[in-house]
Amino acid sequence: MGIPRLRFPSQAPSRSTLKLEEAIHWFLPGEQQTRLLCNGMTAVDLGAAPGGWTWQLVQRGIRVTAVDNGPMDGRLMESGLVDHLRADGFSFHPRRPVDWLVCDMVEQPARIARLVAQWLERGDCRHAIFNLKLPMKKRYAEVLHCLELVSTPLNQAGRGYQLACKQLYHDREEVTVFISLDD
Ligand SMILES: C[S@@+](CC[C@H](N)C(=O)[O-])C[C@H]1O[C@@H](n2cnc3c(N)ncnc32)[C@H](O)[C@@H]1O
Repeated sequence: MGIPRLRFPSQAPSRSTLKLEEAIHWFLPGEQQTRLLCNGMTAVDLGAAPGGWTWQLVQRGIRVTAVDNGPMDGRLMESGLVDHLRADGFSFHPRRPVDWLVCDMVEQPARIARLVAQWLERGDCRHAIFNLKLPMKKRYAEVLHCLELVSTPLNQAGRGYQLACKQLYHDREEVTVFISLDD
């Protein structure tokens, strides 16, 4: 029935880890996964604590800057691949561009979409997976609005990209979005 059978990894710091794992399987099938998520890549995780999404990236050998005022899982920090910054995800800028931005902050969806659009426009990341929380009534209209907020600046700049959005099995009142800039 298209429902992924993902087992909760006992070492992962939170059940949210399954959302990013499902997103990776769904949005990056087969060869795309090995090409776009490689050992040695860099990522920023906004709203990272306690670290379920960061854990997925670390499992793939990716170095992560985890931005959150909350505490990160101790065992995950022992991997040596995570820098934890207690900072506001909306004002944090990476010193150098990273390959990936992932974001699971609980915030107004349009605010998240604008934030991701700014990261892409500035060239701070090339790929992003982010979650839009949708507690409001007109959810479909809100999702369309958010996708426009991300795609319009890229269209105006003549940038090529792949964009996909889905309410995953592990999502609740939320959807997950994947965007990847063409080379
Ligand atoms: C749903 S939890 C993230 C769970 C995480 N993805 C995981 O897998 O463990 C949302 C997180 O966003 C953080 N958050 C909310 N607003 C934030 C902000 N403005 N800057 C940084 N973190 C924020 C919260 O502290 C919280 O830890």
